[in-house]
Amino acid sequence: MKRIGILTGGGDAPGLNAVIRAAVKTAIYEYGYEVIGIRDGYDGFIDDRGVTRLGIEDVRGLLPRGGTILGAASRGNPYARKVIHDGKEIIIDVSNEIIQGIKRLELDALLVLGGDGTLHSAHELYLKGAPVIGVPKTIDNDIGGTETTFGFDTAVTTATEAIDKLHTTAEAHHRVMVLELMGRDAGFISLHAGVAGGADVILIPEIPFKFESVVAKVRQRVERGYLFSIIAVSEGAKPVGEEQVFSRPGDEIYVPRLGGIGQVVGKYIEEQGFETRVTVLGHLQRGGTPTPFDRWLATRYGAAAVRLAAQGKFDRMVALQAGKIVNVSLEEAIAVPKRVGLTDDAVITARGMSIAFGDE
Ligand code: F6P
Repeated sequence: MKRIGILTGGGDAPGLNAVIRAAVKTAIYEYGYEVIGIRDGYDGFIDDRGVTRLGIEDVRGLLPRGGTILGAASRGNPYARKVIHDGKEIIIDVSNEIIQGIKRLELDALLVLGGDGTLHSAHELYLKGAPVIGVPKTIDNDIGGTETTFGFDTAVTTATEAIDKLHTTAEAHHRVMVLELMGRDAGFISLHAGVAGGADVILIPEIPFKFESVVAKVRQRVERGYLFSIIAVSEGAKPVGEEQVFSRPGDEIYVPRLGGIGQVVGKYIEEQGFETRVTVLGHLQRGGTPTPFDRWLATRYGAAAVRLAAQGKFDRMVALQAGKIVNVSLEEAIAVPKRVGLTDDAVITARGMSIAFGDE
């Protein structure tokens, strides 16, 4: 019998449980394999938080459930783990312990559900002998080699609903509504939700903006008789020549925490004489039940990952290309992160419809 391990690393995304369910069902029903869940990302190998055997009973009812039954560890980087030694915090490399953990558990394959950081670590662990297979997860949709990560569609749906709700109150009060959305280095959530929700201005990390251009759009709308405006801004968006706005500095483990650009934009607009309110959608975008699309994608990814394991194809990541599930090398997937392109159809379409990006 083969034994497959599965872990969920990095921040959570709707659809993680659906991938786990599909992987367990495929492994057991199609191949008769045993599945071991590793708790809290890579930490489960070393923290005595442990591992758990996953049977069909354990994945019952998981399809619509957000979060992850295995727990996730943001910044659970095996190459930089914070531990207390002699009363002091130190950073250590625990990758060898993970390799030992994989051997101890006699895993023939390890499915790693994660974003950029987790998949980087997976590739590094492969180079040390770990039989890893990646599954691309992130609401930001910023992983290379695949058109879509699971979790993105749910986040866009939540963000679009928020824009729809802001629209009615904005119109009633003749106000400018600024909505700060997630998206550290990639603006896909703001772009997609902004277009789907009919935002007037979309500010994304890939297109640095000028405050005056944003206000010019608001003013133009008033001149055209529209007394309200909706502005979708990625948390990672930044003004031309300036830095991103952080709410907390980073350290050896944590990257700086983004947050606050919505307030900065809102304050500027209000100072120009337009009544403005700011909403930060935050982690609502990561929570809740996955959309049917994300369940469908997660299920196909989970099953495809197990099939790769059965074929002994490691250091690969399942991916979606032209509607088909394929697999790409992990190295290729992590080499160049995906970003919104300035000539992408979505950007051109938005500009053609008079949606401003604050750069003109
Ligand atoms: O990468 C997904 C993401 O949701 C980003 O959009 C956001 O910057 C980050 O995670 C937030 O992470 P945390 O939950 O650790 O604050």
